[in-house]
Amino acid sequence: MQATSVRYHVRPMDLGDISQVMEIEQESFLNMWPATAFKRDIQHNHLARYLVVAEQRQDAEEAVAPLPEREPRVVPMPPPGMGRWLSELKRLFGGEEEGEVETSREPIVGFVGVWLMPDEAHIVTIAVRESHRGRGIGELLLIAAIELATLDDREVVTLEVRASNQAAQALYEKYGFRKVDVRHRYYSDNQEDAVIMATDSIRSASYQALCQRLRQEHRERCGHYDLDFN
Ligand SMILES: CC(C)(COP(=O)(O)OP(=O)(O)OC[C@H]1O[C@@H](n2cnc3c(N)ncnc32)[C@H](O)[C@@H]1OP(=O)(O)O)[C@@H](O)C(=O)NCCC(=O)NCCS
Repeated sequence: MQATSVRYHVRPMDLGDISQVMEIEQESFLNMWPATAFKRDIQHNHLARYLVVAEQRQDAEEAVAPLPEREPRVVPMPPPGMGRWLSELKRLFGGEEEGEVETSREPIVGFVGVWLMPDEAHIVTIAVRESHRGRGIGELLLIAAIELATLDDREVVTLEVRASNQAAQALYEKYGFRKVDVRHRYYSDNQEDAVIMATDSIRSASYQALCQRLRQEHRERCGHYDLDFN
């Protein structure tokens, strides 16, 4: 039998990932974001960066060879002459050109959204496919978000988390986030409090050293990954 290895690839979310991202949203959050919110942010919000973790499977024999090119999904095109008319109609009514989005075929197992504000990077969402939790993917997403904030020269990373979400809080605390405030009854679905968490300066030598140690431990435990922000 041929051995199969898995390598994780962190890369920017594109429109073709959104259907899989919505599956993860559904199993992760009480209050789902609509697909249009992701689309709008990806296309128009210059502060927002969304990253996904894609799972790349390689048979042992292929492991040294480059991965084959993804076959593009064949998208049915409108009859000649109708294309421009349809696009114009969609543009007028504010719709998106759904048919032209190529759906990604590689499995997406998690995502993170970061807004790069003037002084801080704010993590707006982070989630891992339920079947893949507990394997270091949430940690990989947080590593990537902090790396993005560092490269973009932000001072601190902040986020909000439900008071009851112990798993997420443990993840953030591991990466030096501290509870700095509470927004009472912040979540409208169950009136739950939001805990505001923030890092110390991510540029400080002590924070860089913490991240370096944690990244090293993560690599030893979960293997190598590819990090690609463009
Ligand atoms: C929170 C979440 C992203 C963690 O992802 P994950 O891939 O399961 O987490 P990892 O395997 O990378 O774990 C990393 C660290 O997180 C913490 N952690 C993760 N799951 C935990 C759990 N069930 N209980 C306690 N701590 C947990 C631990 O500190 C762990 O480090 P350790 O392995 O050294 O103990 C995931 O549970 C999830 O998607 N939850 C639903 C969505 C959500 O709540 N998002 C957060 C919104 S603020």
